[in-house]
Amino acid sequence: MKKTVICPGSFDPVTLGHQDIITRASKMFDRVVVAVLVNSSKTPTFTTEERIELLREAVGDLDNVEIVSFDGLLAEYCKSCGINTIVKGLRVVSDFEYEFQMAIVNKKLNPTLETIFLTADADSTFLSSSMVREICSMGGDISNFVPACVHDRIVAKYRKS
Ligand code: COA
Repeated sequence: MKKTVICPGSFDPVTLGHQDIITRASKMFDRVVVAVLVNSSKTPTFTTEERIELLREAVGDLDNVEIVSFDGLLAEYCKSCGINTIVKGLRVVSDFEYEFQMAIVNKKLNPTLETIFLTADADSTFLSSSMVREICSMGGDISNFVPACVHDRIVAKYRKS
């Protein structure tokens, strides 16, 4: 049976760290579903459509990667599409506590769900979407933090607003 995993997140916007995790997962599994959370406690800077579009640019060349959006509980979404493995990146120790809690809650909600963690690439351990947003909003250079193919679109968003 082919192994499908889900890689969920806000991706507001996608960074080199996300691209690294998705690329590595695509080499390990048959199919990777990248799932963009529509509504969260955070108010996204990029619309759902923009976040999906940026992901398409960043990882769309990987044949076994699909990009979708979802709303509500991740555990329920996985159940609805028959996915039982979540893949997430771990950057620093503080990620672990939070991710560990989420993995347990997700398993309580959907006992078929397993969560697998990939250690972040050394160059991405410090990286986050909010850092990219802040640097970009203040006119700083984000070229070391986001995939080259989405750089101009992210910068353009800030020039517009
Ligand atoms: N490289 C770079 N940055 C990374 C990264 C990586 N490998 N992995 C995570 N990040 C960063 C993100 O950029 C983001 O940065 P920001 O906070 O500065 O914007 C931060 O880590 C958190 O990632 P994010 O994707 O926003 O959220 P999350 O990891 O907390 O979880 C979902 C996102 C979608 C998985 C989670 O919110 C969810 O499942 N929501 C659905 C509701 C639900 O089921 N709730 C119960 C879960 S217990």
